[in-house]
Amino acid sequence: KKIVLAYSGGLDTSVVLRWLKDRYGCEIVTFTADLGQGEELKRVRQKAEQLGVREIFIEDLQEEFARDFVFPMFRANALYEGAYLLGSSIARPLIAKRQIEIARLVGADAVAHGATGKGNDQLRFELTYLALSPDIQIIAPWRDWSFRSRSDLLAFARENQISIENAGTAQRPYSIDVNLLHTSYEGEALEDPSIPPPEGLCTRTVRPEDAPNRPEELVVSFLQGDPVAVNGEPLSPANVLRRLNALGGVHGIGRVDMVENRILGMKTRSVYETPGGTLLHHAHRAIESLTMDGEAAHLKDELMPRYANLVYRGLWFSPERLMLQAAIDQSQKGVTGDVRMQMYKGSVRVIGRESPTSRYSRAHVTFEADNVYNQSDATGFIRLTGLRFQVGAAARTSPLSG
Ligand code: ARG
Ligand code: SIN
Repeated sequence: KKIVLAYSGGLDTSVVLRWLKDRYGCEIVTFTADLGQGEELKRVRQKAEQLGVREIFIEDLQEEFARDFVFPMFRANALYEGAYLLGSSIARPLIAKRQIEIARLVGADAVAHGATGKGNDQLRFELTYLALSPDIQIIAPWRDWSFRSRSDLLAFARENQISIENAGTAQRPYSIDVNLLHTSYEGEALEDPSIPPPEGLCTRTVRPEDAPNRPEELVVSFLQGDPVAVNGEPLSPANVLRRLNALGGVHGIGRVDMVENRILGMKTRSVYETPGGTLLHHAHRAIESLTMDGEAAHLKDELMPRYANLVYRGLWFSPERLMLQAAIDQSQKGVTGDVRMQMYKGSVRVIGRESPTSRYSRAHVTFEADNVYNQSDATGFIRLTGLRFQVGAAARTSPLSG
């Protein structure tokens, strides 16, 4: 038997690793995806080695993450419950997909993850495993073992000489998830939704009140729905996110403090920092506003919450997500051009947009005289639109006709 574990190097997955060894007495392979979590990755290899792992995979998937996961999702303008840009939700399917590939590569018959039995991540991991490898054995230690809490985990770690310093959890006891798109925080002090997040919680954006007193402009360029350049400089997908994160972070952009509905029915209070994603979201909507057909744009807006729900619920690799994606991608053919924005103390404002494929027609809309539009055409349109009111009134059944 051989198990591939999605290993972050943190406390939880280190305990999982040790527990799997004790429980199954088999070879454990660790896989760590570098999705831009930086610092956290520093000692992952060393930690896995200390825990006796012989096959250690650490792979930089940042470009694939940005290009094949984040960007397609941003084409949809996906937002969960009006505020969450899905930074953790979108990362799990990529980690799980690569984990399955590695399981095939090393001849493993099981995969394991360190997500709890209460959260969303377990569904995102496992639904991806099932979609890509229906017969693989899935091990979810949090649902099997006798530990009941993080305190139990800490005790076990101490007993077993598992390093907890640098686990990301010792000094910062929150549940934190970091990648190129966002940082999320849950748990501990945040579990009381009535009080503000503790001072100093956020790390990748400044407090809006501490941001520069002068606004700063930036330009994001799109090609068929995807950002390809910032301030005129062409950048790879991951570099677009890095650049936007740096710009937005300085101006305190993209902080969200919300109570969200988890998949399994409970609510959770979460704090997110998504500086680059927030800039991208606004820029994308702005370039769509200029370039998309109005009816297509409205339909897309109706589909958006469903799309966001699918991503949130771990259904990235589902027929219905792929179906929606095909429709969304089709809508992006003409979504090309530049958006100019201004960042100032936590806010972002679109101040200009232009496109070679713009549908904006000044000739049509102008309040000055024009020779492309016949205003008297509107008379018939309005009369026919209102025809049913006349019919209703004649039938004396209209709720308005008394
Ligand atoms: N509530 C967010 C979501 O479901 C964040 C999850 C963060 N995951 C974590 N392992 N800290 O997408
Ligand atoms: C977890 O439960 O492991 C983290 C939070 C979540 O998945 O929602």
